[in-house]
Amino acid sequence: MDGNGRWAERRRLPRAAGHRAGVEVLTPLLEAAGRVGVRTLTLYAFSTENWARPEDEVDTLMSLFLETAHAKVPDLNERGARLRFLGRREYLPASVLEAIQEAEELTAHNDKLDVYVALNYGGRSEIVDAVRRIVADGLLPEDVDEATFARYLYAPEVPEVDLVIRTSGELRVSNFLLWQIAYAEFYVTDTLWPDFSQEEFLQAIESFASRSRRRGGV
Ligand code: IPE
Ligand code: MG
Repeated sequence: MDGNGRWAERRRLPRAAGHRAGVEVLTPLLEAAGRVGVRTLTLYAFSTENWARPEDEVDTLMSLFLETAHAKVPDLNERGARLRFLGRREYLPASVLEAIQEAEELTAHNDKLDVYVALNYGGRSEIVDAVRRIVADGLLPEDVDEATFARYLYAPEVPEVDLVIRTSGELRVSNFLLWQIAYAEFYVTDTLWPDFSQEEFLQAIESFASRSRRRGGV
């Protein structure tokens, strides 16, 4: 969900206004995703690198997360979304951890759409955390293959990523789901996240649907 800051700058607004506008995209997006039959959607909300931002912006993002959780989780629950969080739980404020736990518990039995929120998430930390748990479990080198490794990721039940949508025109992966995107298709758009619409989401899905995925074959 990139481009909130630039969206605000163009309007001579504080960056926080951009983050706030970015939140407004979520309901229409999830609605469209449910409508076209997307089963799993992961939103990259806060990376392990985002702690490097000025303290007041980090605080704004955390408060906005709490506010959004309180405002949107009941509605998501009614729409049948199951919410899960990906990332390191350490360093997150206690209030945020509580909101995460509540949201996960409330929506645990829903099965229409799985919504993963990557929060304090880094693809490299996820891989390191998986290795740590593999070592802690005492696996032998010959026990570790790709399928075994994947079972140690934060959310082993998540199917491999089909499509990555990258807003704000950046041509980089930014530490997102490194293992899971090995064969993902990319949709890159110059649209800044707060301007990302249902129409463009459907366009991304259409673009994905028209591609031929060979996965290294012919
Ligand atoms: C949102 O966009 C990303 C979050 C960490 C929430 P940015 O804040 O990175 O926006 P730009 O890149 O400055 O435009
Ligand atoms: Mg950015």
